[in-house]
This record gives sequence, structure tokens and C-alpha cells, in this order.
Amino acid sequence: MSRGLCVILWALVLPALVPELGVCGICEVTAEAVKTCRDKIKGRGRVIVKQKHVKQTGSFEGSNLEPTQCDIPPDSRFDCAPEKLLSQRECQARGCCYGPVSSRAPTIGQPWCFFPPSYPSYKIVNLTVTENGYTARLARSVPSFLPDDIMNLQLDVMLETEGRLHFTLKDPFKKRYEVPLETPKANNRASSTLYSVKFSTDPFGLIILRKSDGRVLLNTTVAPLFFADQFLQISTSLPSHYISGLGEHLTSLILDVNWTTVTLWNRDISPAPFANLYGSHPFYLALEDGGLAHGVFLLNSNAMDVILQPSPALTWRATGGILDFYVFLGPDPKSVVRQYMDVIGYPFMPPYWGLGFHLCRWGYPSTAVTREVVKNMTAAQFPLDVQWNDLDYSDAKRDFTFNKDGFWDMPNMVDEFHRDGRRYIMIVDPGISSSGPPGTYKPYDEGLKRGVFILNATGQPLIGQVWPGPTAFPDFTNPETQQWWYDMVKDFHAQVPFDGMWIDMNEPSNFVEGSLEGCPNNKLENPPYMPGVLGRSLKTHTLCASSRQYLSSHYNLHNLYGLTEAIASHDALVKVRGKRPFVISRSTFAGHGQYAGHWTGDVNSSWPHLYYTIPAVLLFNLYGVPLVGADICGFVGDTSEELCVRWTQLGAFYPFMRNHNDRKNKPQEPYVFSQEAQQAMRKAFLLRYSLLPYLYTLFHKAHSAGETVARPLYLEFPEDPNTWDVDQQLMWGAALLITPVLEAGKTTVSGYFPLGTWYSLTAGSVINSRGQWVLLQAPLDTINVHVRAGHILPLQEPAFTTTESRKKGMTLVVALTLSGVARGDLFWDDGEGLMTFEKGDYTEIIFLARAGTLISEIVRLNSQVDGLLLKEALVLGVPSPPYTVLANGVPVSDFSYRTDTKILDIPLSLLMGEPFIITWS
Ligand SMILES: *[C@@H]1O[C@H](CO)[C@@H](O)[C@H](O)[C@H]1NC(C)=O
Ligand SMILES: *[C@@H]1O[C@H](CO)[C@@H](O)[C@H](O)[C@H]1NC(C)=O
Ligand SMILES: *[C@@H]1O[C@H](CO)[C@@H](O)[C@H](O)[C@H]1NC(C)=O
Ligand SMILES: *[C@@H]1O[C@H](CO)[C@@H](O)[C@H](O)[C@H]1NC(C)=O
Ligand SMILES: *[C@@H]1O[C@H](CO)[C@@H](O)[C@H](O)[C@H]1NC(C)=O
Ligand SMILES: *[C@@H]1O[C@H](CO)[C@@H](O)[C@H](O)[C@H]1NC(C)=O
Repeated sequence: MSRGLCVILWALVLPALVPELGVCGICEVTAEAVKTCRDKIKGRGRVIVKQKHVKQTGSFEGSNLEPTQCDIPPDSRFDCAPEKLLSQRECQARGCCYGPVSSRAPTIGQPWCFFPPSYPSYKIVNLTVTENGYTARLARSVPSFLPDDIMNLQLDVMLETEGRLHFTLKDPFKKRYEVPLETPKANNRASSTLYSVKFSTDPFGLIILRKSDGRVLLNTTVAPLFFADQFLQISTSLPSHYISGLGEHLTSLILDVNWTTVTLWNRDISPAPFANLYGSHPFYLALEDGGLAHGVFLLNSNAMDVILQPSPALTWRATGGILDFYVFLGPDPKSVVRQYMDVIGYPFMPPYWGLGFHLCRWGYPSTAVTREVVKNMTAAQFPLDVQWNDLDYSDAKRDFTFNKDGFWDMPNMVDEFHRDGRRYIMIVDPGISSSGPPGTYKPYDEGLKRGVFILNATGQPLIGQVWPGPTAFPDFTNPETQQWWYDMVKDFHAQVPFDGMWIDMNEPSNFVEGSLEGCPNNKLENPPYMPGVLGRSLKTHTLCASSRQYLSSHYNLHNLYGLTEAIASHDALVKVRGKRPFVISRSTFAGHGQYAGHWTGDVNSSWPHLYYTIPAVLLFNLYGVPLVGADICGFVGDTSEELCVRWTQLGAFYPFMRNHNDRKNKPQEPYVFSQEAQQAMRKAFLLRYSLLPYLYTLFHKAHSAGETVARPLYLEFPEDPNTWDVDQQLMWGAALLITPVLEAGKTTVSGYFPLGTWYSLTAGSVINSRGQWVLLQAPLDTINVHVRAGHILPLQEPAFTTTESRKKGMTLVVALTLSGVARGDLFWDDGEGLMTFEKGDYTEIIFLARAGTLISEIVRLNSQVDGLLLKEALVLGVPSPPYTVLANGVPVSDFSYRTDTKILDIPLSLLMGEPFIITWS
């Protein structure tokens, strides 16, 4: 490669034809090259030719020349030695700059060996405009330092919708593994877009700008592109330090961009900082100055690292597949989340009972004890919708069995729960016990016969070890496995009429490395670059990467194991029960929320872990998995009474509310604590049960419109940068702000209140905030919950199960703005029918308040609301006592008004299914 000048041709293209600013760079300044470049742009607009002098260097692999242009600020350097530490000589032999960072202020992460701007990469050899965007051929002339470079690439850029851009980089000649996720297809170019696209030709770079303000959202020119068989790397500048996503990790809501590496490789481990946890969500949302946001999704399921650096910039480093990117332009953060869900799928609608309280522990040894737990809950007057069992129920820890010692009458127990309006769920692990004599365990015998298991190098079922001992692992990417799983679920359901499935250990977890026989030594087990996975080996605590699945290698499919099992379980439950399925899974991948929920795994009973559950719940909502919660009171280790009270208060605001405990620990069911603690917990339970109609309506909007249920404050108040990193509070929808206590020994808590009026839901107090931190009273029996002015919430009188509470009277909480308006809605259906929204079998009511009038507007009506009564309207922020209150024209005499709280309480008895008008004056 010659030293020389680069010419960059800027093409200002006429908007009517191609609304982008094109860049075409060439490094060989020959007349022909300039002509080619001109030709490419000609006919598509006015061409401005600018010459830009860029000094080139000629030192590449093996040439041993020290590169120039190494004067790069440490925070803007991109790592040229990702796979190992290099000496100065080795680094420079690679054509990279060597610059140890001053030992006086070492910053972990700053690379010592980094790329000069001239480092050889791909260049665009042929860029053409297509029906829906662009296509280009990319080529590199010099191999990289990695094995198996793919020297030619195909770039496709698809301008899919106004807010969504899609681009892929693949091998044009050979089909590589791609994630089998069904994504929307767009054959035509969007007629108008929020973004414009530019290309840098040499080195290759894609630049995406926000049209409205010219902000560069992505610029992949900042570091060279790599596309080798097992090493795909692309870097981009970031327009902001505020990045959320890239789960699953034990993390705050906003990631630290100060040289943070996050690793995505699904793994069974009690959540710990920096560890790759149970799920993979290669998606981030970036907040931009002024309150706009964009998002990026890399649809790739291979083990990967994502590196954040403070310039700020981000590097994706994947070990296989293709580069398949979606960029979401928002422009606001809520739209980014919806645009992401447009690609990965909207969340499933959970059954109403799934939003009630769930109770579980490992260590209920019998049906007698499990029944006693339910009895004790009732005696202590706690709601309980769903009783669970961990592995205790099974026979020798094998799936689809129940032991005939303690659980001999399990079917009767479940029937009894049903008679009392409760539901039942048990754990199911994917590992199928393989050690019994043939003919003794149908799931294995059938599975073997039907070829459903993952295979090892010699084409036999790979045998690992999980709870039952030696186990084979179903390959859920195989359609036959889905059918077999359905048959097993059906068989077991015919014995025990369970209502949902708790799928655990599905990373998949394995107590031996790879398999009982270990793993072969090959390039899948030992990729040239090993991401920062715990154990520094892909097989750690899971299967051999080179084991074989129906669709591809486990190397490619590992991160999809939990998702594919969730799909199989969801589908099996639909067919077996004919009702809305309920599946909670530990392992997840992008798209999971369409089929199942998630709990955050084996969290510790500790105050720091209590806090971390908030960002975890908020992030999973951004990932399209709104049905999420953590084990209330913690799973690992003994809880304390105070921690358990505070955890129950916060847990009452997890979209999925379950208390679950480990075998060895002291009990932590609500009824085991002191009367004072129980009373505090009971208040939290009743608050949640009162709010269920509102929560259910939020789930409907997640399901039907790609919204979130629990949401970070920045989704509602993106223009207030003070909200951006708030992750010790959460919102339910747009209307409720929850401020829990997260520290021991505290009876006050400080919370951020964005500009506006906020009404305490329980205390009658009001905060008129300028956008400020407020110190709140929070005695042990109190969790602060505030209603945002302008919203109307549908509430219902609580009961001990949702079966009962669904029949009770409703209350509307009307939180007026200073100008006296508010709005809200209710979605109501039978609570468990399949596709009620899709079939139109539901009721939807809008509530509006304005000028002393509250009306309901029935958008859709079905028979499920028959008999449902509105018993009360609680109007918050009524400035002065009314003289008259009328309900459908009839005077209400027993209303009450308090001048101190400005709350007007109107007792009513109106049918929800009929429009009403209530006035106060
Ligand atoms: C990044 O971390 C280093 C120490 O590891 C510290 O010196 C530096 O100030 C941090 N930078 C930012 C922007 O936080
Ligand atoms: C460039 O693209 C055109 C149109 O797609 C194609 O006909 C041509 O062969 C390509 N040239 C190269 C060098 O790839
Ligand atoms: C993109 O990055 C390259 C390399 O850092 C830089 O030269 C160029 O100016 C950037 N382009 C834009 C539009 O920011
Ligand atoms: C969780 O608790 C265990 C035992 O109490 C402790 O050893 C471990 O360090 C804790 N882990 C975290 C991440 O706090
Ligand atoms: C139920 O409550 C009784 C009485 O307090 C107690 O002795 C028993 O241990 C409780 N059972 C369980 C399973 O918690
Ligand atoms: C494959 O698994 C079988 C058991 O199903 C085992 O006997 C065999 O040794 C394994 N092969 C390898 C290469 O590990």
C-alpha cells in the first residue's frame, strides 16, 4: 500500500432523489478513480469536489514499521490487541501504535496498543442505490491479524421506516449463521426519514445523522471494521454518555462508559457485578442532549463483548454470525422502545391472575406443607394468587414426575387451590435425566427415539449433569423437540392440572464443563478471541460450544436456549390449557417478552441487591419483557425482617410479584414476621391488589402498542436530564411514581420529582415540584407512591385472590392538574382468554375530567364488565368545596371534601359498562 493523499468527494445530493449526503473517498489519486467516484454520484445530484489531504502510512502486519499518526487522546483509542497483551514490537508489527498509559494515572481499559486512523480496513468498491436503500460491496486488500478474514463483504442499508434504519454486513458468497428471529420486512424505502446516511469509502464507514439537528448518532469510521469467521468487530462514536441496555448484568440503569466491557453469554450465576448473567439483549438506548434518544440493536446471538469508552464510543465484538443492525431514531425514548419492539415483537398479554402475588420456596417438602403455607397466608390475611413448588415436588428431581412420598396427592392439592380461586405453578428444568434403565422414564426414552437432544462430536446425545444427575438437553430449535415437549407437558398436565411453567436452569446450566466427557479441542471451543465470559471458556457451566443443534452449532445458538424453550413452553401451554399461558424463565434473549416473563435469578438477600432489582426491572421493560420481578426478600442467604418488609414494599411494584427463598435459609413467607412487619407488608399487598386494574391496562398497552409497564423516569421526562440516571425510583406507566426505601434503618427517603403536581396515593399530601429532590417520610409501614396530575387511575377493592378482587367495586382516582383536567382508561376482559384483544372480545373505557366534570366514554364493550360497579370517585386537587355533586344528574348527598387535602370523595354505585357523567360545582 502506498503512502499518499486521499481525495474525498463530497456529494451533496438533491433531496428529491436521494435525501442523503454522500461521501466517496478514494486513496489512489488517479484520473480513473476520480471518474469512478464521480460516476457513482452523477445523475443523483450536484457534485462538490473537495480535496482533503490525509497523510497515509504504510506500516502493516509484518512490515515492522512504526506507524505515524499515533497522537490520539487516550480516551479515543481503539484497542488493537483485544485478544492478548502485546509487546511494543508485536504491537507495531501489527501496524498499530504503542503507547503505554502513564503509570501515575492508570485507567483500566485504556488500550496500550491502538489503531492509527490509517489502519487498513475494508473499503467500498461499489455502492449502488436500491429500491429500499443502498447496497455496496466492501473489500479489504490486506488480511487482518485474525484467522479466516472474509475479504469481501456485502453491505445492505435499508431505510425501512421513518424511524428505523436496518443495515447488514455479510459474506456475499457464503451463507453464514443468522439468528432465526422473524423480523419485519420492508421492501420499499421509507418515504421520509428522521435520519440521513453517509458513507466513508476508504476506510469504510457508515455515518448516521439525525436530520433535525444534524447530530451524528453513529460513525463507524472511528475504528477499522473486522469481519473474520470468528471475530466481527465494528466501532462507533456515541453522541452521549447516557447509555442504557446491553443486558443482562448487575448494573445501574445508565452504564459507565469509562472503559466498561460487558459480555453477553448466557450463564447460570448468582448476579454479581461485571459477570455475564442469564440473558442476552444486544440493544442500547442512548439519551441525547435536549431529550431525544436513539437505540441500536445488533441481532447477533454469538458470544460477544461490548466495550464502552469515554470519548464516548462503543465497540461491538462478536465471535460469529453476521452484523445485522437496527437503528431506531425515536425521536423520543418511548418511541425508541416501541421501534425496538416493532422488530423483536410486542409482549404477550399475561393472565390477570399472573399479576397477583406468587409464593414459592425451595424446601416445601410435601403437599401437606405446601397446603399449610397457603392456609397460613389466608389466616394471616395476605392475598395469594399462585402457589409454587420448586424441585421438591418431583421424583428424583426429574421433569414431568411427582414423588409419591410427600407429593403423592399433588393432583388433589392443585384441585383444591383451584377450588379456592388460586393457581399453581411448578419448576421445570430443561435437563432430561438420562441415567435410568430404558423403559423407566418416558421423557428420555421418547426423546431419544424422536431425536430431540443436542448431539456431541460423535453424534450421540451430549450428556451433562444437572439436578437429577446425568442429563441430556432438548434442542428446542428442532420442530420435533417442540412437539415432544408439548406431548410431555400434556401428559403431565393430565395428571397435575398446573397453570403455568417456571423454566429454570435454561442458560443452559450444567454442573460439569461441557459434558461428562469434556469437549473436543476445536475452533468453536477455542475461538481466536475469547470474550470476557466468566471462567474464560465458553463451556464453563454449560454445554460444549461445538455440540450440534438442529439449526446450527451450540456455539451460535447458546444464547437462544432459554428463548427457544420459552417458545416451546408457551406454545405447549396454549394447546394444553386453551387459555393464556404463563411462563417465567431465567434465561432470555431479544424477543423473549413475546412468549414469557423473567425473574432476575438468584439474587442475594442484601440491601445492595434490593437496589439493583430496580434497574433490572426497568431494563427488562426496555427489552420488551415487562413481566419481570426479583425474588422478594432475596433468594441467597437469610433475609432480615426489615429488609424483607422493604423488599415486599418494592416487590408490590414489580410487574411480576413473587417471594422465593433458597432451601437452606430461614423462612421468609410474609406471615413468619412480627405483627408490625406483617402489617407493613399487608399494606403493600393491598396497595398492589387495589392497583391491579391499572396494572392490567398497562400490560394491555405493552401488548397492543409496544409500551412499557414499569418504566424509568426518563421515558416520561426525557427533557429533564435530572431524570436520566434516576434508578432508585420507578414509574408504573405515565401516572405512578414509586419511591421505595433501599437502605437499612431509614425512615425517610429522598426522591426526584419532575416538574408538576404529584399526589401521594395514601397520605393525602401534595408535592408541587419545580423538578427537584424531595425528602419524604417513610416509616417502616410506608412505601411512597405518587400519582401524577393529569391522570385517572382505575382501582378495585382488594381481596385475597384476583378471582375475588375482579368482582369487587371499582374506584377512580382522578388526579387533577392545576387547570382541572385528567385522563385515564381501563382495559377489561375475562382475564385469561386467548387473543381477546385480537378478537375484539374486551371492554375499553376512557375517563375524562374537565371543568368539574368526570365522564366515561365506552370505546368498546363486552359482557365481561356486566355487574362491575364504580363505587367511588376520589378527585384529587379540587380547589374548593363543592356545593352540589351529581351522578348522571342525580344528587349525591354523602360526598365528602377535606379542605386540608383538597380531596373530594364521591361514593357511587354506577355500572362501569354504561357511560356516566359526574359533576361537582
Ligand atoms: C475513569 O476512571 C479513572 C480511574 O479508573 C478516573 O481516573 C477517571 O477520572 C474516570 N473518568 C471519568 C470520565 O469518569
Ligand atoms: C457493482 O454493482 C453493479 C450493480 O449491482 C454490478 O453490476 C457490478 O458487477 C458491481 N461491480 C463490482 C466490482 O462489484
Ligand atoms: C467520522 O469519524 C471519522 C474518523 O474519526 C472522522 O474523521 C469524521 O469526521 C467523522 N464524521 C462525522 C460526520 O462526524
Ligand atoms: C451473596 O451472598 C453470599 C453469601 O451471603 C456472599 O458470599 C456473596 O458475596 C454475595 N454476593 C454478592 C454479589 O453480593
Ligand atoms: C404455619 O403456621 C404455623 C403456626 O404459626 C407454624 O407452626 C407453621 O410452621 C407454619 N407452616 C409453614 C409451612 O410455614
Ligand atoms: C458423546 O456422548 C456419548 C453419550 O451419549 C458418549 O458415550 C460419547 O463418549 C460422547 N462423545 C464424545 C466425543 O464426547
